[in-house]
Amino acid sequence: MAPYEELILEHWRNPRNKGSLENPDIDVVEANPLCGDVVRLQLSVKEGTVKDVRFEGQGCAISQAAASLLTEMIKGKTVSELEEMKDEELLSALGGVIKTRLSCALLPLRALRKGLSERGKG
Ligand code: FES
Repeated sequence: MAPYEELILEHWRNPRNKGSLENPDIDVVEANPLCGDVVRLQLSVKEGTVKDVRFEGQGCAISQAAASLLTEMIKGKTVSELEEMKDEELLSALGGVIKTRLSCALLPLRALRKGLSERGKG
């Protein structure tokens, strides 16, 4: 098995930051229109910094492992850093070799961007 496959399976089996927060500042659900799989992200933001994050979801191993990895990446980051986060950062954290199934791998990042833009409007 390639290292990136092991990483994805490891996060799929032992997801980080899975669950929900009591009073999240951002609470967003995003679905992959191609398959209907979903990721829900909840963030607690204090003074412009992500203090805590949780995710829930239903979907393929890539989307759920990517969500788990993303929660590890964004904890402690500022909202501005999150707004500037590129697709490549998550793809490279996933091993950098996913060329197909990009819509699966990027589903949690789309959820994050949606959550940030909804928060901006509120
Ligand atoms: Fe649905 Fe991967 S098959 S997100």
